[in-house]
Amino acid sequence: MKIGIVGTGMVGSAAGYAMALMGVGTQIVLVDADAALARAQAQDIAHAVPFATTVAIRAGDYADLGDAAVVIIAAGVSQKPGEDRLALLERNVEVFRSVIGGVMEAAPDAILLIATNPVDVMTFAARQISGLPPERVIGSGTILDTARLRSLLGDHLGIAPNSVHAYVLGEHGDSELAVWSSAMAGSVPIVSFAEQIGRPLDQATRTRIAEEVRGAAYTIIKGKGATWYGIGAGLARIVQSITDDERTVLSVSQVNVDIEGVRDVPLSLPRIVGREGIIATLMPDLDETERAALKRSAEVISAFSSRLSL
Ligand code: 2OP
Repeated sequence: MKIGIVGTGMVGSAAGYAMALMGVGTQIVLVDADAALARAQAQDIAHAVPFATTVAIRAGDYADLGDAAVVIIAAGVSQKPGEDRLALLERNVEVFRSVIGGVMEAAPDAILLIATNPVDVMTFAARQISGLPPERVIGSGTILDTARLRSLLGDHLGIAPNSVHAYVLGEHGDSELAVWSSAMAGSVPIVSFAEQIGRPLDQATRTRIAEEVRGAAYTIIKGKGATWYGIGAGLARIVQSITDDERTVLSVSQVNVDIEGVRDVPLSLPRIVGREGIIATLMPDLDETERAALKRSAEVISAFSSRLSL
């Protein structure tokens, strides 16, 4: 099974590296406007493969994406220190006009997996430009924020992050929300779990953890200029759920018909991801504060997506 990656900077190449080590797909094709960069990244990643799997990785151009099951789009500019994700919008929509056209011509049946920021609005743009149904244009959305939340909660509770079932939903950005009301550890509501093991999750602790998740990208960008390992692994995980038809529930972005009265808005909810893309979307039970936060997040994104002329 072939996977394409368009845009082989830090995020695209980290996704390729993660897929090569995890054994996701059988062939990975890297495409970049800078062909020499794509070749160098493919070679470097290929040298890691003998230590892990048998995935074939090479550089190519759009024509080499024919028959790809999934194409990751990681092309575009990224945030500078202090800049928020929405500041990138105009520059990256311009990039998408040519990139999505090139991918659709070569691989009209591929599922598009969008990683470029601001990822929700870029998912909206990719859907408009490609004309694909919404369930075949997936944004990485809050998959990474959810991982960050689970990791911090795992640390706080002293348990493995994969025993934490909690989501960050809404925008992959400043208006995102951590959903506490339905969060579980094992099958126990998380606040009760925390009390039982003597590591309470009081309001102040929850606020601190949610803020740490929201600020993670800013902190990392300040320290090393960009983020790539976390999102690279998250993208690989989404592709794996598609190629293996796993039907794993992941918090990813898609254009939604209606969120709390906001129409045609791209944002993350828990979704079942399999061979056909997004198979179903779940709306968790939200308390009133969370519903208001989801609506606010939808409004923030919609203020940008509804103004795009595509
Ligand atoms: C991240 O959250 C910058 O969106 C990127 O790591």
